[in-house]
Amino acid sequence: MTATLGTDIAEAAALLKAGRLVAFPTETVYGLGANAMDGVAVARVFEAKQRPEFDPLIVHIADSSWLDRVVTDVPPLARLLMERFWPGPLTLVLPKLDSVPDLVSSGLDTVGVRQPAHPIAIELIAEAGTPIAAPSANLFGRISPTAAQHVVDQLADRIDYVFDGGSCSVGIESTVVAVDGDRVVVLRPGGLTLEALRGVAPKVEFNDSEDTETQHASPGRTLQHYAPRTALVVRESPTLTDAERHLAVGLLSHNPGEGPAGFAMIERLEPDLPRAAAEFFAALRRLDASQLDLIVATPFPEYGLGIALNDRLNRAAAGARPA
Ligand code: TXA
Ligand code: MG
Repeated sequence: MTATLGTDIAEAAALLKAGRLVAFPTETVYGLGANAMDGVAVARVFEAKQRPEFDPLIVHIADSSWLDRVVTDVPPLARLLMERFWPGPLTLVLPKLDSVPDLVSSGLDTVGVRQPAHPIAIELIAEAGTPIAAPSANLFGRISPTAAQHVVDQLADRIDYVFDGGSCSVGIESTVVAVDGDRVVVLRPGGLTLEALRGVAPKVEFNDSEDTETQHASPGRTLQHYAPRTALVVRESPTLTDAERHLAVGLLSHNPGEGPAGFAMIERLEPDLPRAAAEFFAALRRLDASQLDLIVATPFPEYGLGIALNDRLNRAAAGARPA
């Protein structure tokens, strides 16, 4: 099988209805979509991505009126967040309807739901007429795709269609939250900032724990994720050790200024965090494709999208092979 690369909504929607796999653009990253109500189609997603079955998928809906197809209840605070932030980069974890296959939620009694803010995604889901389960369209643990070509490079021989909708404007995945009374628990930082959530919810807590007791709450939060093939270290200042001077080292940095000495390649992101996020995964891919021995990345400030970007950087470092 080789995926068709195209822009035909009717063709892509027909494939989804038939239980096939279609990668499509969202404002965050490209998703690998399948009919969420079809357990066999969902199983194909796990197979194509080589994704472990303990890592649940997000269900994408065309309109909030579709919620009653996938969840049993929408608590008032969840409703408020949807009204404020949907369509957009916010996934809400809510109690799952039995009719949603257990594989979608990895056996949990909750399901993550989101209405993406991308006209192609909305049109495609509406035309397919069914909620669409979609993880990021990359092999498990690897760098997330923000352009159709990224998907083609990794998954072309495993899926049916790649819808080319250009580059993703946000560039990092959605913020995943659960609500508990008047508390918002952030399970994964992402494209919607904590500051934005705090503007609406009285209590926003960041569930940053990697310990096993809280793993069940966010099973997909494996430390090794978003990983390049090249070794990667996160370092405050863009300098090289003596040993590294003999290596081909690339730099990923959002700090403006002169190019520091000794780097074989520099990917400079915009200091503006939304613009840095939009370019982040593509820049990491370019570095990873450049036969470097090592990638040095400088951390982002710990506010706004910087929190989600640092999360991706630290996981990429943990998942990359040692230098
Ligand atoms: O922006 C995004 O969220 C993209 C686009 C395609 O929508 N999707 C995405 O999916 O990033 P994925 O599969 O790469 O990450 C989904 C993560 C899981 O790893 C898990 O941490 C969390 O969402 N998740 C999903 N369902 C959950 C649930 N029922 N309970 C807790 N966490 C859940
Ligand atoms: Mg992913």
